[in-house]
Amino acid sequence: MCGIIGFTGHLDATKVLTKGLAELEYRGYDSAGIAFFENEEIRTIKTAGKVACLKEKVEASTINDATCGIGHTRWATHGGVSDTNSHPHTFGNVTLIHNGIIENYKELQAELALQGKTPISQTDTEIAAMIIDDCFDGDPIEAIKKADARLDGQYGFCIMFKGIPGKIFCIRNGSPLVATHTEKGSVIASDMVALIDYSKDYFVLPEHVIATLTAEDITLVDLEGNNVEPEMLHVDWDIEAAMKGGYDYFMLKEIHDQPAALMNTITPRIKDGLPTFEADNVPDEVFTNCNRILITACGTAMHAGLVGKNLIERIARVPVTVDVASEFRYNDPIMDEHTLVITISQSGETADTLAAIRLAKEHGAKTLSIVNVKGSTIARESDYVLYTHAGPEIAVASTKAYTVQLSVFYLIAARFALVTNKFTEDDARDYITKLQQAIESVNEVLANEKDFEDVSASLDTAENLFYIGRGLDYCLAMEGSLKLKEISYIHSEAYAAGELKHGTISLITEDMPVIAIATQNGVYSKMISNIREVKARGAKVILITNGDDQNVDESICSFQVSIPKIDDMFAPFTTSVVIQYLAYFCAVRRALNVDQPRNLAKSVTVE
Ligand code: G6P
Repeated sequence: MCGIIGFTGHLDATKVLTKGLAELEYRGYDSAGIAFFENEEIRTIKTAGKVACLKEKVEASTINDATCGIGHTRWATHGGVSDTNSHPHTFGNVTLIHNGIIENYKELQAELALQGKTPISQTDTEIAAMIIDDCFDGDPIEAIKKADARLDGQYGFCIMFKGIPGKIFCIRNGSPLVATHTEKGSVIASDMVALIDYSKDYFVLPEHVIATLTAEDITLVDLEGNNVEPEMLHVDWDIEAAMKGGYDYFMLKEIHDQPAALMNTITPRIKDGLPTFEADNVPDEVFTNCNRILITACGTAMHAGLVGKNLIERIARVPVTVDVASEFRYNDPIMDEHTLVITISQSGETADTLAAIRLAKEHGAKTLSIVNVKGSTIARESDYVLYTHAGPEIAVASTKAYTVQLSVFYLIAARFALVTNKFTEDDARDYITKLQQAIESVNEVLANEKDFEDVSASLDTAENLFYIGRGLDYCLAMEGSLKLKEISYIHSEAYAAGELKHGTISLITEDMPVIAIATQNGVYSKMISNIREVKARGAKVILITNGDDQNVDESICSFQVSIPKIDDMFAPFTTSVVIQYLAYFCAVRRALNVDQPRNLAKSVTVE
């Protein structure tokens, strides 16, 4: 969601800001804008639409010597997509950009109306600008402190004050802000992708701490006026990792990144052939003291959790429930000190997932998060963190972040089973070998890329379809269906194959393609029967299977996609790549914006 960049230093700020906004485009947005000091005056250029439109406007303007400014990509929440509602917003002495939602903006607006002050936009953000201005008496830090006490909700602000050139003031509650200072100046942004050009060393702005950025340095003070030392972090990826590297789309590149990302994630956690979380500081008591696991996350990450449940229950024999985070906290979940709450998040900033962790902690449960972004809020607030090593994921549709999340669940299940004596060391070694082989076999699927394009062509006219599977394949069907909807806009529904006949089979006609996943030995023959049921009603079937069943021919499927034959418990890695390719090629063939699908945001920082 909303992207934020702020810069003050020795470079052309308009160039730094528009470049930064282009790098943050992947977060999802519908309008863009910048504000900068020019001859000590604040000037704003903003527009509904893409960063490219903003850039054109900026390049068409004559701008003299701008070295300090703020930039924003807006994902509309309050008020439609329009130039006026775009950020930055200015009121009185204050010009600001915001990521988040001001929940009490209506009450504040009523207070301001009593003073005869009215906003010109429909946004909650403009009200925040008005409140900060209302609190301003010449001292920016004091104004921000006072405003912080009046604002409810979630926010990351970068603020410039009239008459105080060269300085950017920032504060956050919930919404992410990371910053760095180099000899070129000080930079702040919503995430590292926009900072990596300047430095691999950065810090996360602590909540309710006010940062003052100047060309010379960044200083931090808390609300009591105490100086705060930033805790420096280091990213272990390079700028190339956030570039397309010759691929047409980030999504395609990220599909190809998977074997390396998977190995980077599991290898440090395998010692002497056994799974270990020693280096992650996750003690075995987390597992031995646990009698119940609750998994919660959003979107694709939640789908990784479904696979996690299947594995953990199967081999560690502990009960697991999975819930989407936006429901979890309102379902009054049963938790105590023997409950382990596992959250999963690529960004580490998803508001609902974060709220679930906070609730779990209130109930005394232990929290373990699987997170891709180092130092993110979810990682910092969890009792234990297992970082995935996917590197930056830029395409909105998650691919490599999902499969690395799966790999961590394979390790959790094995470690749990080992320390609770469900696995012998030999069992665990055998399992880890199979896991490594499964990851190796992802390369074989990648080598067949062209085949997936051919199969996708058969869906060129599809408007609706079903994804079906059983067991682990059903979890993968859910992810396959989501992927397809996200980027190809084909409406699709994932269904447990055995359940179709209890109602949904009424929708099956020759105009309803079915993608069937059949990789699980225990339910394979039942799955084939279910496929026959839809085939008998005219459906065009695309079958994804790792079997070499002689009985599978065109009488049951129009297309067969074969994935390498490996132990079926590990099939999700190869199946994932197939479902990602199908969604990708369907979107490419429809000439859609694969990396930035409409209305979607990469990181959902509001509830
Ligand atoms: C958004 C993204 C999804 C992602 C979900 C959870 O909806 O578009 O790809 O799975 O958020 O994000 P997280 O960062 O918590 O994994």
